[in-house]
Amino acid sequence: MVWNGRKLLLGITGSIAAYKSTWIVRHLKSKGADVQVVCTPDALGFVTPLTLSTLSERPVYSEFVKSAGGEWVNHVELGMWADLILIAPCSAQTLAKMAGGLCDNLLMAVYLSARCPVWFAPAMDIDMWKHPATAKNVKELTSRANHRMLGPANGALASGLNGVGRMAEPQELIDALEAHWASTNADVLPQATEDLRNKMVLITAGPTREAIDDVRYISNHSSGKMGYALAEACLEQGARVVLISGPVTLTPPQGLYAFVAVESAHEMQKAVESYRTKFDIGIFCAAVADFRPVHKTTGKIKKQDAVTRIEMHPNPDILAEVGRNKQPQQFLVGFALESADGIAEARRKKSTKNCDMMILNRINNKGAGFGADTNRVTLLSALGIRELPLASKKDIARDIIQHLILCYIPS
Ligand code: C5P
Repeated sequence: MVWNGRKLLLGITGSIAAYKSTWIVRHLKSKGADVQVVCTPDALGFVTPLTLSTLSERPVYSEFVKSAGGEWVNHVELGMWADLILIAPCSAQTLAKMAGGLCDNLLMAVYLSARCPVWFAPAMDIDMWKHPATAKNVKELTSRANHRMLGPANGALASGLNGVGRMAEPQELIDALEAHWASTNADVLPQATEDLRNKMVLITAGPTREAIDDVRYISNHSSGKMGYALAEACLEQGARVVLISGPVTLTPPQGLYAFVAVESAHEMQKAVESYRTKFDIGIFCAAVADFRPVHKTTGKIKKQDAVTRIEMHPNPDILAEVGRNKQPQQFLVGFALESADGIAEARRKKSTKNCDMMILNRINNKGAGFGADTNRVTLLSALGIRELPLASKKDIARDIIQHLILCYIPS
């Protein structure tokens, strides 16, 4: 419980103690934490990204730009994602950069962008540790709010010398984290920054049902879980949330500004229309049925009627309509569920529906899609294309909202 859903960014720097970081990742993961590793370029001389990404189940970042594809790694977003940054081992060089605010690698950019607590575990030789320059840097860092130093320990050093400078033992670091998180309320995750305070967010969620007669309908397998998780993530950020939901079995989250239960696409369209000029951010997560029967039969069609065809009519595209009438201060988010050529299709939909952000779900992704508790999505926005790793829909929702906050420029 203490660990569940905790987001730890582990910074690894160039020190022989970096091999122990693999153990830290392994144990944090087994306890239930979400671990994102960021290495300095020097750290990669000691540990491989393959080992770390396999253990953390996330890509490992060390450069501002991913070499394959030239995609930019968003350091601000990484800094905001983390509940806590642990730099272990923290070399004399990184210690000095942190103290001086130098920003010549990704880890330093993440450090400078972070709002969360920063812990660091120095690791260096005894004379480097004793040097007045290091002592000055340590004094500076430990005087900063939210900073905490763990270790260094006394013992055998890689140089063959004995003394202070060893990285604190990994188990000690994990015990310190556990004690820290146990002392905060384990159920409150993470500290809400309330970046959406005073903003109205409209969310459509779930499927729609298009009636054939009074007992039968056409629908899809949407569970509403993603939309409801997004509603919760927006509430955490202090937003006034209007949730317009098709028929699902979920309980609406506490604290909504409004909840509107609808059945058909037409009802959903009407509900959206009544808030169309009022909301700041619209997240269109619903799996709206594309067609509806032209005639709805009153009562129940009898088996003897031997219906072999149902004439269908296209439903209104609610998001496209809102997009056409979008007001300058409004920010629109759409979802695209695609099988093949996902990015191109999502890009096309983003543009034709006049969205600011499109969230791509791939039908064939393992652990993703309708009904699942996990999801794997790709975000397309003004900040470029960003892949989110497989995670719970709750965590994905929080990541989406963090990304949205970065893209959204309030008027
Ligand atoms: O066109 P497609 O169904 O893939 O569009 C996906 C996006 O458009 C989703 O955000 C969905 O909620 C929205 N949509 C809508 N009304 C429709 C169809 C889709 O709002 N009739």
